[in-house]
Amino acid sequence: MPRKKVIIDTDPGVDDAQALLLALRSPALDVLGITTVAGNMPLETTTRNALVVMEHSGREVPVYAGATEPLIEPLETAAHAHGQDGLGDVGYPDPVGKMEDEHAVDFIIRTVVESADPVHLVSVGPLTNIALALTKERRLEERVASLSMMVGSWARGNLTQVAEYNAGVDPEASDIVFRSRIPKTMVALDPVFESATITAEDVDLLEAAGTPWCTMVAKLIRPWLERWPRPHISLCDPAAVAVAIDPAVAEIELLPVAIETRGQHTRGMTVVDFRRGRGHALGILEANVNVELRFHRERFRKLVMDTYLAQS
Ligand code: BDR
Ligand code: CA
Repeated sequence: MPRKKVIIDTDPGVDDAQALLLALRSPALDVLGITTVAGNMPLETTTRNALVVMEHSGREVPVYAGATEPLIEPLETAAHAHGQDGLGDVGYPDPVGKMEDEHAVDFIIRTVVESADPVHLVSVGPLTNIALALTKERRLEERVASLSMMVGSWARGNLTQVAEYNAGVDPEASDIVFRSRIPKTMVALDPVFESATITAEDVDLLEAAGTPWCTMVAKLIRPWLERWPRPHISLCDPAAVAVAIDPAVAEIELLPVAIETRGQHTRGMTVVDFRRGRGHALGILEANVNVELRFHRERFRKLVMDTYLAQS
């Protein structure tokens, strides 16, 4: 099987690091580039962290820095969840390599437009870069083969009561992307918390593996596990990568989804119409997003663990 060509857009971020390592180690993916966006940390830090993670992956992939701020509102970072350095304050030294000169948005456009093969996008941060790319080059709507996004929720959020971080930190960008015709998949918090999981024993296995990438994943998960001990550990951003690797890892349904950009208490919420076929009530004529309903827990776990643990 030819490897799927992908660009990973990310704001590392502890779970972004896990997602990057999953993508970079997957034999199913050909990662053409990593693009960074301001999110969990300011852009300078997310770019530094992307380079650090890439250098622990055993792979060499160019890193491009993108948007420094959400489209409208000031950035709200998430150091409380990801540590002051965005990588759990483990103390990783600065990377050896440097980022590329080209802007992330231009890299995305150039790569998608010029590639003879389909190019897929995986987004595990705020959607600012993707929205800017779409706004700058409308041909992307037809040319992007698919977009797998860690974004949104329907029961409760983590930025606010109702807004998931990536959707809520840049609602205008989310709105542009959700309204676009790119074939897209929404990996929301709800199915991830329920079923995109590995076990505490799996973390022991990663620790014992001894490769730089497994050690990094284990070091990033271990403190969270100690803080909140539990048998199943949800992997947010890796879930969007897993969907790009194997779409059958989860059950999906094509549904109408809108982004709330104006609500007094609900800005940044992903409004999913589960009533089936009545999306006009949201002002969306057609179902526009493949919504992941639940992951096949064991299939997900095996995909993630087999990929991390493989030596070559
Ligand atoms: C998302 O928010 C960020 O903190 C994580 O990196 C992830 O992309 C989960 O809501
Ligand atoms: Ca992220």
